[in-house]
Amino acid sequence: MPPALKALVAQLIGFGLMVATLMFGLMPPDKPLALAVFQGGVAAAAALTLRCDAWWIPIHLAFAPALYAATRLGLHPAWYFGAFLLLMLIYGSSFRTQVPLFLSNRETARVVAELLPEGKPFRLVDLGSGTGGLLRLLSKARPEASFVGIESAPLPYLFSRIASRRLTNCRVERGDFWQTGLGDFDVVYAFLSPVPMPRLWRKVKAEMKRGSLLVANSFPIQGARPERVIEVGDRRGTRLYLYRV
Ligand SMILES: C[S@@+](CC[C@H](N)C(=O)[O-])C[C@H]1O[C@@H](n2cnc3c(N)ncnc32)[C@H](O)[C@@H]1O
Repeated sequence: MPPALKALVAQLIGFGLMVATLMFGLMPPDKPLALAVFQGGVAAAAALTLRCDAWWIPIHLAFAPALYAATRLGLHPAWYFGAFLLLMLIYGSSFRTQVPLFLSNRETARVVAELLPEGKPFRLVDLGSGTGGLLRLLSKARPEASFVGIESAPLPYLFSRIASRRLTNCRVERGDFWQTGLGDFDVVYAFLSPVPMPRLWRKVKAEMKRGSLLVANSFPIQGARPERVIEVGDRRGTRLYLYRV
């Protein structure tokens, strides 16, 4: 069962049991917070039984109590709809891609800049470029090179388009990087998640030129030996895995 479906089932079990306790008079109807805490506990237990990943458990525990707390705030429903839309525009595609948005930091960009080819123009693509911060830092550091970002999430894409509008050597496209050929690029940068890495490695080997470089931030490719592993030395403990094609 997909993780999101398991989460839905766990929540429904929680609500079902909560309604049952009310119908049989096992809990007082005038104690909504206690009911919400009960629902959360049942949903968390159901998630454990369904073998959901550990990080789902606090979410299940807190979900109904948080709903109850939110109703107490008395906010207009448009605020909730607005927040939902905002999250959809940033994280909506993560459901399909299994890659959420988190950003490379400045220290990482500085280390990546030191890895770039010297003394010749080159092309770099950031697969899933997020808000484009890494691309902007690199394109300022290496004005003779050309930088491309491909991002599927609408809001991060829009932000990166606006923020990079003055950089002539940096272009951001909205789309799916699986549909983009990698043959024109000397360096591919990927900060994704463990899920797409095996498929990405197959794509890189099939499409990239001999001698070109894949820089994988944080998520190595199982079964492929990196040419180098670099510790960035930041607080996050970032590691860069360098694969030569
Ligand atoms: C972890 S973020 C990295 C952002 C940026 N590269 C950085 O290092 O700051 C990964 C991004 O990849 C995007 N993404 C995931 N799969 C994608 C795909 N198939 N095509 C385009 N973008 C994708 C996500 O929307 C997310 O913004």
